[in-house]
Amino acid sequence: MSAVTRMRLDKFLANTGLGSRAQVRKLIRSGQVTVDGATVKDPSFAFNPHRAIVIAAGAELEYREHHYLMLNKPPGVISATEDRLHTTVLDLLPPAYRHLKLFPVGRLDRDTQGLLLLTDDGAMAHNLLSPKKRVPKTYLALVQGWVGKKEQEAFARGIALRDFTTLPARLEILEAGPQSRVKITICEGKFHQVKRMFHALGKEVLALTRIGFGPLALDENLPPGAMRELTARELSSLLEWRQ
Ligand code: URA
Repeated sequence: MSAVTRMRLDKFLANTGLGSRAQVRKLIRSGQVTVDGATVKDPSFAFNPHRAIVIAAGAELEYREHHYLMLNKPPGVISATEDRLHTTVLDLLPPAYRHLKLFPVGRLDRDTQGLLLLTDDGAMAHNLLSPKKRVPKTYLALVQGWVGKKEQEAFARGIALRDFTTLPARLEILEAGPQSRVKITICEGKFHQVKRMFHALGKEVLALTRIGFGPLALDENLPPGAMRELTARELSSLLEWRQ
């Protein structure tokens, strides 16, 4: 998968999330880093990151070419890498990740919350976002008005919007009432798609939370605004996703 056979020690350490390049250079110069058992004080020292054993401040470090974070996006934050006016999902990154070139895989609306994957793995993002892959996305929504069989059938058939007709989607009714709670799974990711689907049926979405993206499920222990690295199991389920 990886073509990297030589890497500078400072880059290696920064990639593991130990800190910025400046911070890890300090650590290296202080004599706290060994490569294959020998202390290295030169940050530009180059070696094969796949083969060497690197120990920093007593702990062995694992080489990672790419990074994968699950964010529970809070409402009010935009799914972009920069914006002059609004807080972006990258503004929420803990300091150890700020120097990496992470970006969100797809978008959630500013007022939508929930599962958003952040990565620096362009090939994986491309794969997950390809319309051909039909990656399922699952949402919980609070909808104004009663939602019933009529809406369920419309979702299953596909809904004609101004510019396209949606693929068959699943609508599960969790609680029908003057405001209804529903679970939706769509295999596309068009702009405002869920809101537009309900709007076309004369209903408005009051709140939207993404709880599933491909094989990933939103970690219920992640409060809004928090993120964590994917587990090894989550990562392999993503890497194997309909290759
Ligand atoms: N559908 C929407 O309408 N908004 C989102 O953020 C995601 C899906």
